Amino acid sequence: MTQNKKTALITGASSGIGKTYAGYLASLGYDLILVARREKLLTELANDLTAKYKVNSEILTADLSQHEGVVKVKEFLNNAAPDAFIHAAGYGTRGFFYEVDEDLIERQVYLMTVAGTVLARAVLPAMIEKKEGVIIFVSSVAAFISTAQYPVYSAVKTYANTFITGLRDELAATNIKVQSVCPGVTRTEFMHTEQYKEKNFDYSFVPEKYWQDPEDVVKESWERLTKKYKPIIVTGKYNRFLVGMLTAPFIGGLIKKRISKNIRKRIKKGLPVEI
Ligand SMILES: NC(=O)c1ccc[n+]([C@@H]2O[C@H](COP(=O)([O-])OP(=O)(O)OC[C@H]3O[C@@H](n4cnc5c(N)ncnc54)[C@H](OP(=O)(O)O)[C@@H]3O)[C@@H](O)[C@H]2O)c1
Repeated sequence: MTQNKKTALITGASSGIGKTYAGYLASLGYDLILVARREKLLTELANDLTAKYKVNSEILTADLSQHEGVVKVKEFLNNAAPDAFIHAAGYGTRGFFYEVDEDLIERQVYLMTVAGTVLARAVLPAMIEKKEGVIIFVSSVAAFISTAQYPVYSAVKTYANTFITGLRDELAATNIKVQSVCPGVTRTEFMHTEQYKEKNFDYSFVPEKYWQDPEDVVKESWERLTKKYKPIIVTGKYNRFLVGMLTAPFIGGLIKKRISKNIRKRIKKGLPVEI
C-alpha cells in the first residue's frame, strides 16, 4: 500500500452501512481493507472504489461469527496497521428468543461482541503508538430499550455502547477517537435476510420520518468525530428525540414501563408483537 496514506479496516463492508463507510472513507482518500463473507460483492466494491477514488482496496473474506474468521483477520493485522477500524458487521433476528435457531443466536452474540472487541484489541497498539486513530462500532437505538423479539440484539448493542464509553476514557491521552454510533431504522439489507423473510416481517409500520439512508448515518457518524465529539451518538433528529425521551430522567422510565406493559398484555392475549 502507498506510504503515508491512511488505511481503514471495515467489517460488514459488502453491504449497507459498512459498504457506505467504505465509499465515504475512500472519498476521503483512505486505502481500504474490506471484510465480510460475500467475496463477489467485496471484489466488486473494491474494484469500483479503486477506480473511482484511486485508493488501494484489499478484500478479506471471513466469517466473523466464528473464532476462525476472527483469527484470520487478526493474522492479517500482523502486517497491517489501520488508522481506522469500523465494526459494522451484524444482523438481527426475528421471533422470540426461545424460538430462534440457537446457532443463529450464538453467532450473533459472537459477531457483535467478541469479534469487534478482539479486532479493536488487535488494532489499538499501533494506533496508540501513533497517538491517533478511529474506532467505530455500529450500535443501534435498540441499545436504549429491550423488549420482546429484541433481548439479544438490544444486549449486544448495549455492549457496544458500554465498551466504547470505557475505552474513550482509557484513550484520553491520545488523539484516538472512539464512537458507538446508534442508527435507527436504516435502508439496508438488514431486514431482508432469510430469517426475516421466514417470519414475514416488515417494518412498514415505522413512520417514514424515522428512516435514514446509510449515507446519512455514515456522514453524521464521521462528522461527529470532530464536531461535538461524544463516544455514543444517535443519528437522525427523530431517533435522537426518541432516545432522548427513553433516557430522560423519570419520564424515560415511565415510557419504557408503559411499552413493556403493553407488550406483555399483547403477549398474554396471544396477539402479535411488532416492534
Ligand atoms: N439497518 C438498520 O435498520 C440498522 C439499524 C441500527 C443498527 N444497524 C446495525 O448496522 C450494522 C450494519 O447493518 P446493515 O444495516 O448495514 O445491514 P446489512 O446491509 O445486512 O449489512 C450487514 C453486513 O454485515 C456482514 N455480516 C453479517 N454476518 C457476518 C458474518 N458472520 N461475518 C462477517 N460479516 C458479516 C454482511 O456481510 P456478508 O453477508 O457478506 O458476510 C454485511 O456486509 C449492524 O451491526 C446492524 O445491527 C442496522
